[in-house]
Amino acid sequence: MKPFEPEIVAFCCHYCAYTAADMAGSMRIGYPPNVKIIKAPCSGKIDAIHIMKALEKGADGVYVAGCLEGDCHFKNGNNNAARRVKYLQKLLDEIGVGGERIAMITMSAGMGGRFAETAAEFTEKIRKLGPNPAKTAAGEKLEKAIA
Ligand code: FES
Repeated sequence: MKPFEPEIVAFCCHYCAYTAADMAGSMRIGYPPNVKIIKAPCSGKIDAIHIMKALEKGADGVYVAGCLEGDCHFKNGNNNAARRVKYLQKLLDEIGVGGERIAMITMSAGMGGRFAETAAEFTEKIRKLGPNPAKTAAGEKLEKAIA
């Protein structure tokens, strides 16, 4: 049996987190290939449905990465995203998926090192948590439907 390799989705805002990821690449700072980046204009554009869909479609962990407090280019996008993530964490705890599978992270465009560190830490955390139970249930359901 293959060891568990978590699938992580990182929704990154264009102005800071995505640029930080780019910076990590330019600085040749590696981060786990488990992390798949989805670029958004602002972390505030990431709605609850995007995070829930990612989990439903098979992600073991999801994080939203935006600009530092007070630096959002759309004023309050990062605060709105943080509030949504907090709400979803509670919801995921209640339904048994685990709120720790999602996170909100902030960074500046120049923090390539922080981007890589965060990606590695989050991947390790999800590796310890194991596969997303929602994914397993959906996968079993799909297998039964196909059989
Ligand atoms: S533009 Fe980066 S969080 Fe809004």
